[in-house]
Amino acid sequence: MHLSTDPYKGVRDFYPHDQAILHYLFSTYRRVCEQFGYEEYNASLLEPTALYLAKSSQEIVSEQTYSFKDRGEREVTLRPEMTPTLARMVAAQRRELVFPLRWYSIPNVFRYEKPQRGRLREHWQLNVDLFGGDTTQADAEIITLAYSLLHAFGAKDSDFEIRVNDRKNMPNDPALLRLLDRKAKMSREDFEREATKLFPNKKELEMFLNGTYTENQELRTLITTLSTRGITNVRYTPDVVRGFDYYSGMVFEVFDTDPKNPRALFGGGRYDNLLDVFGVEKIPAVGFGAGDVTMRDFLETHNLLPAHLWPHYSPVTKIMLCAVDTLDITMNSVATLAGMLRERGIPVAVDFSGKKIGDQIRNADRRGIPYVIVIGDTEHASGKFKIKNLASGEEIEVASADAIATIVAH
Ligand code: HAM
Repeated sequence: MHLSTDPYKGVRDFYPHDQAILHYLFSTYRRVCEQFGYEEYNASLLEPTALYLAKSSQEIVSEQTYSFKDRGEREVTLRPEMTPTLARMVAAQRRELVFPLRWYSIPNVFRYEKPQRGRLREHWQLNVDLFGGDTTQADAEIITLAYSLLHAFGAKDSDFEIRVNDRKNMPNDPALLRLLDRKAKMSREDFEREATKLFPNKKELEMFLNGTYTENQELRTLITTLSTRGITNVRYTPDVVRGFDYYSGMVFEVFDTDPKNPRALFGGGRYDNLLDVFGVEKIPAVGFGAGDVTMRDFLETHNLLPAHLWPHYSPVTKIMLCAVDTLDITMNSVATLAGMLRERGIPVAVDFSGKKIGDQIRNADRRGIPYVIVIGDTEHASGKFKIKNLASGEEIEVASADAIATIVAH
């Protein structure tokens, strides 16, 4: 029996092509968050299990965490989300930190879910959160940031919809909220059967099933504020309840409008009471999480990934230096040129295989490297090189590392 080469169920290996896409997501996240004045933080993926028992989601804690006992008999959990960790960090240093506090992070999080499209057991989740500050302005800023992020990826307003609701609009019963949260995933009959159990009173049940909860004044103000600032794809959506117990006000999800990708891209909301569990004074907070799985599905569905990443991927390596033979003198000459190019910030790889030049060039092309330079006696003696563009076949003679750098920079 040999070992399987498959990764563990529901998690992914990131081969360079996938890692390059992830890197593109992260660098876009970082750029946009920093443009809004957010600072990056991080923490360990291990947390004491108690952190999630206090206030999270019953479903997540009892069915979806990876929890174990460490060698010292401590109960440990792989974080299923970042918000409790963030609340812990803010509570710990609340006296030193300056509010409003704008922070973001890109952690990997773990949930023992049934793997399916858009849902895995490990994903990378951008978290953007704002602690302190005026409620309407803070809510509007967080939604504006989410909106700007999608625009930074090239999305149009018609590609997505921002669905908002308010926890204060909804029944205050966690069992009811959980049922509403699962509504989209259930059949109408199952939903009604479960609702009947929660509402012994027939009239109340009718009201619940007909969706009696209406938009409140705060939500109207938020939607108007956003629309004044040019964000008009925001809809009041009573179905959006969110699975976590800690939300206390506005909640929202960003949805792909393409029916091929019917998953929430982002989810978040206001949580003003989460610091209670640490026994410290309240600090109002609002934020959201955005997973990499749904984000990549969205970008593929709408054909928004940049050309160097999709459908074919080109690595960042710009030039392959091909040596005509493996003699020391040739290899040293190649190494010297490679060093000069690297000093100029050009990513360069060296082919020291000694294979036929035609094969070396084909290999570079298969890897998606855009330029090659062949180095042999003539080049070594003259200090002149021919740089070949593999896409166009064009060859240019150059006599210095600076000239090479200029060509590959374009
Ligand atoms: P969440 O809705 O559970 O919220 O997750 C946020 C986003 O993470 C989802 O919209 C989705 O893109 C992605 N996501 C969640 N679970 C999975 C999964 N199993 N596989 C792939 N992607 C997934 C939270 O976690 C809140 N803590 C967000 C938050 C931050 N609220 C306030 N601040």
